[in-house]
This record gives sequence, structure tokens and C-alpha cells, in this order.
Amino acid sequence: MTLDGGDGFKYLPGHFDRAAQESLVETVRAGVEAAPLYRPSMPRTGQKLSVRMTNFGPLGWVTDQKDGYRYEPAHPVTGGPWPAMPAVMLDLWRTVTDYPAPPEACLVNFYDPDARMGLHIDWDEEAANAPVVSVSLGDDALFRLGGPQRKGKTRSLRLKSGDVVVLGGASRRFYHGVDRIYPGTSALLPRGGRINLTLRRVTLPD
Ligand code: SIN
Ligand code: FE2
Repeated sequence: MTLDGGDGFKYLPGHFDRAAQESLVETVRAGVEAAPLYRPSMPRTGQKLSVRMTNFGPLGWVTDQKDGYRYEPAHPVTGGPWPAMPAVMLDLWRTVTDYPAPPEACLVNFYDPDARMGLHIDWDEEAANAPVVSVSLGDDALFRLGGPQRKGKTRSLRLKSGDVVVLGGASRRFYHGVDRIYPGTSALLPRGGRINLTLRRVTLPD
């Protein structure tokens, strides 16, 4: 596959080594204690996502039946603010992007062995020219990247623990999703599953 075919998509396999992955998991565990994972609902149908979520940073991505996809400063279940953006995620953003302002949301997605994420485009950010940066931890996942049209050609990539991908440039508006998790492929998380951390700039910087 093309790693950077001029479309702004970057694949950085093994960006985080095992020790860094363990430290990230500890950071996520501490955050999840303050802001528990919950299962959000889709707009209109109210159908629950298979992925459980929480966020770190000043804004968090949420969805529910009534108000749909959006960013909010508070956890929808506890009503409390999201935990601070981890320093290691701010460092990652500075390392892999040249965007002049920091990310505002770190979405935490937790995939059980049977969870998946349908093809979608990240549309809910005003800062549409800021890349999306994502980190994989735990079990392998089959990631699918398409193009700007839902029906277009797609390529698949097996993401492993420690891998980073960047959707920048044109690929910022490409369809993508997770077809499946491969249970038992990583020993990083004691109870298995996969964590995906997604960094996004939401508002336009002044
Ligand atoms: C997402 O698109 O929000 C998640 C992608 C992933 O889990 O790798
Ligand atoms: Fe996405």
C-alpha cells in the first residue's frame, strides 16, 4: 500500500515501543477512573455503538439519540469535566503534525473482541484542516481506509499495538473504519481488547 501517496495519510508502525505502550495504558487507566467508559447512542435511531468511549482534554466527542454527534466539555454520564489531555499525547501531536495549535480532544475508544466501527468520515470539527492522529493499543485491528466517496475503493491495514496513523491533507476527509478486532493478539491489556486514542483539533485557532 502507499504510505504517503500524496494524500496525507501516514502510517507509523511501532511508533510507541512496549514500555511507552505500558505507560500509555496506565495513563488511560487513570483517566478512565475519573471519566468512565460508557456506550454512546447513535443519532435518531438511538442504537448503541459497539465501542465504549470516553475523552481526555478540554473537549470530548459525544453522541446521543436527541442531539447527535458533537463536542462537549463534560462527560455525559458523570457531568464532570474530561480529564486533562495527557502530556504524551500533546508530544505525539507535535511530533507527527505541523499544525500550529494543540489538539483539544483525545477520544478514547475501547473495543471488546466483537466491537467494530462502521465506515465514516470525521466531520464534526470546525478545524477541518487539522490532521487526525490515532494510536492503537492492545489487540490487532483490521483498519479500512477508503476515499472521499463511501462507495470508492478501500485498502485494509492490520493495526498493531503501538502503531500510529495520521489522517492529514486529503485523507482527513476519507472514509475509514474498523472491520474487526483479532482477540488474543496482544498481551498489553490484561483482559484483552483494543484501545484507540484519537487526537483532534476541534475549534479554529485564533
Ligand atoms: C475512529 O475512526 O474514530 C477510530 C479508528 C480506530 O479505532 O482505529
Ligand atoms: Fe474516525
